[in-house]
Amino acid sequence: MKAISHTEYGSPDVLKLSVTDKPIPDNKEVLIRVYATTVNRTDCAMLSATPFIMRFFTGLLRPKNTISGTDFAGIVEAVGKDVTTLRIGERVFGFDDSGISSHAEFMTLSEDKAIAGIPDNITFEQAAASIEGAHYAFNMINKVALKSGQKVLVNGASGAIGSSAVQLLSYYGARITAVCNTKNIELVKSLGAERVIDFTKEEFIAASNEKYQFIFDTVGKSSFTKCKPLLNSGGVYISSEPGSMVQNPVLALLTPLAGNKKVVFPIPFNIKKSVLLIKKLFEEGKFQAVIDRTYPLEDIAEAYRYVMTGQKTGSVVIRIGSGNPRV
Ligand SMILES: NC(=O)c1ccc[n+]([C@@H]2O[C@H](COP(=O)([O-])OP(=O)(O)OC[C@H]3O[C@@H](n4cnc5c(N)ncnc54)[C@H](OP(=O)(O)O)[C@@H]3O)[C@@H](O)[C@H]2O)c1
Repeated sequence: MKAISHTEYGSPDVLKLSVTDKPIPDNKEVLIRVYATTVNRTDCAMLSATPFIMRFFTGLLRPKNTISGTDFAGIVEAVGKDVTTLRIGERVFGFDDSGISSHAEFMTLSEDKAIAGIPDNITFEQAAASIEGAHYAFNMINKVALKSGQKVLVNGASGAIGSSAVQLLSYYGARITAVCNTKNIELVKSLGAERVIDFTKEEFIAASNEKYQFIFDTVGKSSFTKCKPLLNSGGVYISSEPGSMVQNPVLALLTPLAGNKKVVFPIPFNIKKSVLLIKKLFEEGKFQAVIDRTYPLEDIAEAYRYVMTGQKTGSVVIRIGSGNPRV
């Protein structure tokens, strides 16, 4: 099978298109023919091994998992003898932030991992584009006690996490002010934002004349100190990044002890719950894929370079193989 591999950490230049053996599923695993995957910010962090602490999980000197990829959409081709919940021919999608070698024509995954059926109305590309960002967005929302009608500000609403956060917050009944660039204002409104601040024209802290119960910085470009005046009493600041001085995890421990505004740091967990939520929202027509660009597997290095600019809108999809049954 064709696969994208790297035996050292570095820039997209270290990626190689290789031909290797198809993996063989063990008793609890399924073999999946991958039709679509993405290059996301998790993949970029794994490729370059930044922050350095990642190496304790991905391999200290070189990657343990030489085939890249963290998410997928495809068809079950074979099942191990103890698999009970998935069957051959089923359309499935899933994600694992520890790496599952999905930048390849075939991959294996345990049925116990974050994998679920793709609803009929959703294509492989839409499914693959709706997992990584949605998982981290759900993980942020899951960490706070959001009530319908509360005001929330989402900074970075055009990214993978941000565009998912707007949709999920809207689903839960929040009143959303979104911060994004000029070209994505209409998109972000269509996803559920009540009000949009264009960060290329005005800085949201100065532009915002409202107070919020929650501020979700989904691109990690602000700070608790600067956002604090925009929070209601009892309000919460939550960022997808640890912060320039790694202050957010520390503030998450300290701020609940003093004052009435606090920081929550969203350590990700329970990916299966996120995948099942997205499946349910797809079925209810309450979640849509936001796809910036699609590249063939052969051009994946270009996709990485684009994602690394930090300027994508939603997700960047990789299409695998030709003559896909349904893109
Ligand atoms: N905590 C975790 O486990 C975890 C996991 C994955 C990712 N992350 C981090 O979370 C962040 C977001 O990930 P993502 O995949 O959603 O990012 P992304 O899709 O790459 O986000 C790109 C978008 O953010 C917008 N943006 C850039 N700077 C902005 C600013 N100052 N204000 C508002 N919007 C801005 C960009 O708009 P323009 O094109 O106009 O610049 C672009 O549309 C990244 O920093 C990533 O490293 C954390």
